[in-house]
Amino acid sequence: MGQYEDFKKNIYSLINVDLNSYKEKQMKRRITSLAKRNGFDSLNEYYLKLKTDKELLDQFINYLTINVSEFYRNPSQWKILEQNIIPELINERKRPLKIWSSACSTGEEPYSLVMLLTKFYNLEDIKILATDIDLQAIEKAKDGVYNEKALANLPKDFVDKYFEKVDGSYKISSKIKRAVEFKKLDLLKDPFPTGMDLIICRNVLIYFTNEAKDKLYKKFYSSLSDQGIFFVGSTEQILLPEQYGFKSVRTFFYKKMTKL
Ligand SMILES: C[S@@+](CC[C@H](N)C(=O)[O-])C[C@H]1O[C@@H](n2cnc3c(N)ncnc32)[C@H](O)[C@@H]1O
Repeated sequence: MGQYEDFKKNIYSLINVDLNSYKEKQMKRRITSLAKRNGFDSLNEYYLKLKTDKELLDQFINYLTINVSEFYRNPSQWKILEQNIIPELINERKRPLKIWSSACSTGEEPYSLVMLLTKFYNLEDIKILATDIDLQAIEKAKDGVYNEKALANLPKDFVDKYFEKVDGSYKISSKIKRAVEFKKLDLLKDPFPTGMDLIICRNVLIYFTNEAKDKLYKKFYSSLSDQGIFFVGSTEQILLPEQYGFKSVRTFFYKKMTKL
């Protein structure tokens, strides 16, 4: 199946998503197999149908963005966040922290953060920003209904305190929901918020090319406050972080070093 170059251009004009910044081999394989699964042998035919079939287009966007997430994903890192990173930030700042979950998917990551922060602040005083490119994922996040598997790593006291069991699913408390402001943001083309003390960007950088990652590290650096922390996913350590002005303070946690 050829025509990937044309397909990328067409998708950009249709939904404004730049497939050039995603690792080509993996993305092409995924898209081709999705097209085949829907009965299209050519990417061109698939695109023509995507233009007119809203449901097919939604399926494409959803598949493309890979929304898998869970509460307290990689629990050992959440422990470091709780025991070291957050207390250090609070000590240094002496003001409310500005926190951004930058590829928040269906909400597990920002809601985990809110629950963790209740150990340090009153719930009413917690406010964090959560963004994603995928509006459907954001809608699910706002619904806040999860299956048991998504909660497997979440400390039991949080499950008991902040979830209600409804028809076999777990519904998150509206008090936790209220602490998160969800917005659509495409990391590849939208401006970033500024003055962030902690940015979490996990399990999305792996899909991007080195060129795209290079640009993003610079944008994240500018988005952080002095000595702010950048928290990445388990397979996403930054190669030579110093070149971006970051210092590795713990595995998967980088501090913005302010130039003198
Ligand atoms: C695998 S999920 C990661 C969710 C969560 N951060 C975690 O680690 O569990 C990847 C998310 O990245 C989002 N994403 C993909 N491309 C993006 C882009 N260009 N800008 C913002 N978000 C993007 C997807 O929509 C998806 O929700």
